[in-house]
Amino acid sequence: MTFQEQIQQGIPSQLPQAKPYETNINHAPKRKEILGEEEKKLALKNALRYFEPQFHAELLPEFREELEKYGRIYMYRFRPDYEMKARPISDYPGKSEQAKAIMLMIQNNLDYAVAQHPHELITYGGNGAVFSNWAQYLLTMKYLSEMTDEQTLVMYSGHPMGLFPSHKDAPRVVVTNGMMIPNYSKPDDWEKFNALGVTQYGQMTAGSYMYIGPQGIVHGTTITVLNAFRKINKEPKGGLFVTSGLGGMSGAQPKAGNIAGCVTVCAEVNPKITKIRHDQKWVNEIHENLDELVGRVRRAQENKETVSLAYLGNIVEVWEKFDQENLRIDIGSDQTSLHNPWAGGYYPVGQSFDESNAMMAENPELFKEKVQETLRRHAEAINKHTAKGTYFFDYGNAFLLEASRAGADVMAENPTLGREFKFPSYVQDIMGPMCFDYGFGPFRWVCTSGKPEDLQKTDDIACAILEEIQQNSPEEIQQQMKDNIQWIKGAQENKLVVGSQARILYADAEGRMKIAEAFNKAIKNGEIGPVVLGRDHHDVSGTDSPYRETSNIYDGSRFTADMAIHNVIGDSFRGATWVSIHNGGGVGWGEVINGGFGMLLDGSDDADRRLKSMLFWDVNNGISRRSWARNEGAVFAIKRAMEAEPNLKVTLPNFVDESLLS
Ligand SMILES: NC(=O)c1ccc[n+]([C@@H]2O[C@H](COP(=O)([O-])OP(=O)(O)OC[C@H]3O[C@@H](n4cnc5c(N)ncnc54)[C@H](O)[C@@H]3O)[C@@H](O)[C@H]2O)c1
Repeated sequence: MTFQEQIQQGIPSQLPQAKPYETNINHAPKRKEILGEEEKKLALKNALRYFEPQFHAELLPEFREELEKYGRIYMYRFRPDYEMKARPISDYPGKSEQAKAIMLMIQNNLDYAVAQHPHELITYGGNGAVFSNWAQYLLTMKYLSEMTDEQTLVMYSGHPMGLFPSHKDAPRVVVTNGMMIPNYSKPDDWEKFNALGVTQYGQMTAGSYMYIGPQGIVHGTTITVLNAFRKINKEPKGGLFVTSGLGGMSGAQPKAGNIAGCVTVCAEVNPKITKIRHDQKWVNEIHENLDELVGRVRRAQENKETVSLAYLGNIVEVWEKFDQENLRIDIGSDQTSLHNPWAGGYYPVGQSFDESNAMMAENPELFKEKVQETLRRHAEAINKHTAKGTYFFDYGNAFLLEASRAGADVMAENPTLGREFKFPSYVQDIMGPMCFDYGFGPFRWVCTSGKPEDLQKTDDIACAILEEIQQNSPEEIQQQMKDNIQWIKGAQENKLVVGSQARILYADAEGRMKIAEAFNKAIKNGEIGPVVLGRDHHDVSGTDSPYRETSNIYDGSRFTADMAIHNVIGDSFRGATWVSIHNGGGVGWGEVINGGFGMLLDGSDDADRRLKSMLFWDVNNGISRRSWARNEGAVFAIKRAMEAEPNLKVTLPNFVDESLLS
């Protein structure tokens, strides 16, 4: 069967051969044993409803074994035999170009070079799923291959509910992931309902098919490291940045440190992952001996080297050793996966990686104690450094939240609403006031032709547009414009493409709209093929997350999620090709609501109309909310937007004289 025929077939009418468990690829860890005997039967019944009854007797023992062994039913047997990768859009079968673009993006999110656990359909973050099982994948691709532009595919947490009649301006796909009744949104609820096969954790861009590999995160991390050094008025050259994690997103830290030009020390407990990052040249050296590491860092500081050093071991050891040795750390952070602390996101100090992996499955209570003990030690060591002048920020990984839950010394002396912790989050100090409040966020695009020359042309177009806008930009956003022009100029040289021909840069509403408009024109003129636009959910308007994206909202509304919900509704009726809304993301299940969109530019007048309407809303919704929260940059930005668009009329806040309240 050809690739196209296999897609059109959906779930095969004859059972494919059972597939061996491949040991040479990265697999998801065994999930917590959470279902009782009756619930296990329910999980099996739920899985079998994808298949005709004649196959149930054969599939039942296999699915039961998967559930027992891995804690989930992935239906490995149904993994397709064709290569999993984004193909040129013309290779996909179907009646709708928009649907074909979505198939391309789904495959890109499951590409072995892109996905973290490709056989478990996990793209990143340990649990960020595109689908929960292979039947869902096969059915979804089949629906997309047969739908027209008068239909919408409805996705319930990985499950394709079906095609419903709609109209050509409606989204082709509407995705929800992990949407729970609020009281059922604790971490164990995810374990249970995911094991039952009725919900999934979409992370941010995994469940919305918008992950483009590590490039997005390299860019965001570079911007953060550069601005962190600006915050402490220090040149990155010769400066020391200490952090941890070489995983999916965290692995971008040493590369970003190198682009920024500082000395980076990044601890990682997992030897396999450390080796991957080293082979990839994202980290320059691996050290296993702390004394040697100290000597190497001192030399790098003295010589103002640009170098990244991995420490294969626990981050707590690094903070403690550097304190004993009085090594000056300029910037400190942490990117262990504390959104997922009890299932492999954070490793206790004083025991081996393998011991920890065994303990979390066999003795989860003791494991939890060890994690919390380590968090207390971790915070104590950081406190010693910050007392000596280190600037520490939380990197949106729930470090401060989990450390506080463990009773670590991280609470502010005089906590206020929004400033509960001793340390700021990177959004409170950096991303929020410098980027999001002005509308700058992670805009991205994918060239669906798959041609590198198309990407090069789009880079050139985007760069020319940004340079033109910069000429008349106000002082307030000059730095952001400069950083992004420099980024796009170096993007080809930095060889950031993994998987599809994709690019990311930070742009505000004006930049995003003008770049998209220029792409659409170039497509119309036949200069490039169709382009998919999108963004990370980690953006101005897409995400309500009180300890991350909206942590610099201080009017008490950061625990509300109206902005993210409005965003996805507004995008859907303004022309997005697909929209998504998720519970859970970087900081954990129940801790965030986030959404995003995808939009196909095909060179048509319809695309031109949609992009202007949707992108304007997609950014200004968040700016208006940030402005109402009295964020000064956002008040400035929304006033500018109202001047540019007379149909925009936003309620502005009045500022109260604080002395009246005291
Ligand atoms: N990069 C960003 O801009 C960004 C933004 C927001 C949030 N985050 C958050 O950062 C976290 C990390 O994301 P990821 O995709 O890299 O996850 P990941 O699970 O792929 O990587 C985390 C790594 O930390 C390692 N680790 C755990 N405990 C350790 C310890 N005590 N010492 C040393 N290493 C340890 C793990 O082995 C793992 O490789 C997530 O919580 C994510 O939400 C990142």
